Amino acid sequence: MKKKINEYVTWVGKTDWELKKFHGDEFTTTQGSTYNSYLIQDEKTVLIDTVWLPYDREFVNNLKKEIDLGKIDAVIMQHGEVDHSGALTELMEQIPNVPIYCTQNAVKSLTGQYHKNWNFVPVKTGDTLNIGKHTLTFIEAPMLHWPDTMFTYMDGEGILFSNDGFGQHLASEFLYADEVNNCDLWKQAITYYANILAPFGMMVKNKINEILKLNLPLTMICPSHGLIWRKNPEQIIEKYLLWADNYKENQITIIYDTMWNSTRKMAEAIACGIQSVDKDVTVKIMNTAKDDKTDVLTEVFKSKAILVGSPTVNNGYLYSIAGILEMIKGMKLKGKKASAFGSYGWSGEAVGQLIESLKKAGFEVTDDGLKQPWTPDAEMKEQCIEFGRNFAK
Ligand code: FEO
Repeated sequence: MKKKINEYVTWVGKTDWELKKFHGDEFTTTQGSTYNSYLIQDEKTVLIDTVWLPYDREFVNNLKKEIDLGKIDAVIMQHGEVDHSGALTELMEQIPNVPIYCTQNAVKSLTGQYHKNWNFVPVKTGDTLNIGKHTLTFIEAPMLHWPDTMFTYMDGEGILFSNDGFGQHLASEFLYADEVNNCDLWKQAITYYANILAPFGMMVKNKINEILKLNLPLTMICPSHGLIWRKNPEQIIEKYLLWADNYKENQITIIYDTMWNSTRKMAEAIACGIQSVDKDVTVKIMNTAKDDKTDVLTEVFKSKAILVGSPTVNNGYLYSIAGILEMIKGMKLKGKKASAFGSYGWSGEAVGQLIESLKKAGFEVTDDGLKQPWTPDAEMKEQCIEFGRNFAK
């Protein structure tokens, strides 16, 4: 379905209401997503990005209803990942000689995936494409979130096309951020940042500051996922600057897995201890075997400190904890504190191993953790409460 943004720009993307997993199984998209593609019709006609591969034919057929494909003068590929480039093969079969403007790294990623000798025009920051009344300026944005990423700025209209930057996985019948439920919008915006962009915080900050120094008039930010930022587009830029700066709220998240509930009982007693000394702190308890990993990572991202718990099994910790710790390590978080806890029957190595893993993941570990044999009794629960108190302090 096409949607007019202004006299020159039309949304020609795909709303994917049923998407529940993204990046394979890595990212849970509870509210679906969109693949935003934008058609600019000035004296020249330009298409910015396409859609995910399963919708390639639908995309091209819809585009044909909008324009004669022969009128497309240029395709701009801001990033090579398949959710944006998936319809390129289907499209380029119809317009094989049309130039594709992209970064030199995107030539690599697109050639590596599609093995086609398309008419690539590599561009760098500051390169421009005049399309009649408007000029498009390209801004390389490496590691936001791939080395091949770039943004495109449309003068006159003041539109920044930002590809994955400032996006959200949020399917909607609406086009603009100011039209949807505010809680949904910001939940999906921070979830997207935490799970996709968090490892690149320094680069996010530097790129935004570089763009702000250009003093470009900005009326709209058009990302390639989710809603368009129209009213006060600076609001998402301000949030990104905050999130990119070792972000933390007054929150402690306790994540654990458990075999026979002993580690769960420890988690709950520790939470009581934390709350007994700090009434204002938000304490979240999440079972990594039951809670969604995308939500867990988002809560870890928001936290000033985390506690990780697992019983010892086969001289190590449980696999759901191992998996989430690997993902947390990949987030490259800084400025957060951590400790570990867990029950054991015989050997009890898990807590020591968790402490080492947390250090490797970049956390400031506060102590040696707490391990307890078998099932906590009243005295052991009191130790957990005291552990929670000390951790909170
Ligand atoms: Fe939305 Fe990195 O692709």
